[in-house]
Amino acid sequence: MTPTLFSPLDIGALHLSHRVVMAPLTRMRASSPGNVPTTLNVEYYRQRTTAGGLIIAEGSQISQKGQGMPATPGIYSAAQIEGWRAVTDAVHEKSGLIVLQLWHVGRISHSSHQPNGGLPVAPSAIAAAGNAFTANSERVPFEQPQALEATEIPALIESYAQAARNAKAAGFDGVEIHGANGYLLEQFLQSRSNHRDDNYGGSVENRSRLVLEVAAAVSAEFGADHVGIRLSPYGVANDSGEDDPLPLYTYLISELAKLDLAYLHLIEPRASGAGQAEVDHKNVPSASELFRPVWPNVLIAAGNYRGDSAETLIAKGHADAVAFGRLFIANPDLPERLRRNLDLNAYDRGTFYGGGQEGYTDYPAVAS
Ligand SMILES: Cc1cc2nc3c(=O)[nH]c(=O)nc-3n(C[C@H](O)[C@H](O)[C@H](O)COP(=O)(O)O)c2cc1C
Repeated sequence: MTPTLFSPLDIGALHLSHRVVMAPLTRMRASSPGNVPTTLNVEYYRQRTTAGGLIIAEGSQISQKGQGMPATPGIYSAAQIEGWRAVTDAVHEKSGLIVLQLWHVGRISHSSHQPNGGLPVAPSAIAAAGNAFTANSERVPFEQPQALEATEIPALIESYAQAARNAKAAGFDGVEIHGANGYLLEQFLQSRSNHRDDNYGGSVENRSRLVLEVAAAVSAEFGADHVGIRLSPYGVANDSGEDDPLPLYTYLISELAKLDLAYLHLIEPRASGAGQAEVDHKNVPSASELFRPVWPNVLIAAGNYRGDSAETLIAKGHADAVAFGRLFIANPDLPERLRRNLDLNAYDRGTFYGGGQEGYTDYPAVAS
């Protein structure tokens, strides 16, 4: 039978009862200082939980160096683990599933977020074009980052492994490695930001090495059947850029397949990678269609989907599930609305990042 958005799906060890996935969404509403999830965050995730539905919790820095914006939650301190535990408990009480996105922003940071005011780290000492978001919420040009020494890379990989252990301790059902949208792992992958001449730069194999090592280390902690990875081939976000995406991503995804990860999550380039603008690029390749042949496990697609386009994608077999970002911000009961083909609340872009309950927990659900 042709699957629909409401057919059950096994994603590695996770058993979903439908395929309307909540995309990872940075909302900058953790406690500050401390970057700890709060009771307001618990309420936000509780509202968006459905029995057997999958939530990919927002990007959470794996270390202080991995932070790039104010009030984004972390997963490296005891208080953060405890804060997240309240979120996972609330989701599990409603029989939902929740994985945590592991995030390191690399050069998309500012010294005001860094330990002792140091410089952000990156594969190469090349400043990103654009503006950083400082700890005081000011916008200033990105600084020139410090290139990571090869000898620092084992500790970086260990901080991903530690974050996976912490996520497990916080009660998450799994983790998603953030390899998209111009952040650290994508900075290593792509030619625009990686000018290294050691084992982690140059050839496609070398630029893929860190991502593959991180994926292996995180899988060793959580089990590969609890681990996914998010990539954005052809995407444009945070000054990302790759001269020749097809060979790079074909190699990377084929190698990731050998690790037998639970899922691959691809952001379609037709949407702005981080949903930051109302763009709808035409005539760009479909990442899920292109890379489906080299990925044997579950594929989740994201980027400008609505109910009808998501159904078509799944019916055609280009992806197994669809992650929704902005629609899930504005519609806490999105799966129910899509299932019943009901009207959707419009989102308010002005309250996406930072603030309190307005534009966060006050979007209405339909009466059931
Ligand atoms: C407010 C906001 C925050 C986001 N934060 C993240 C994030 O933490 N991690 C990530 O991988 N993508 C993030 N994204 C991108 C979304 O997950 C998604 O890929 C994008 O919005 C396109 O999907 P949509 O058209 O369904 O919104 C964010 C997008 C928005 C609008």
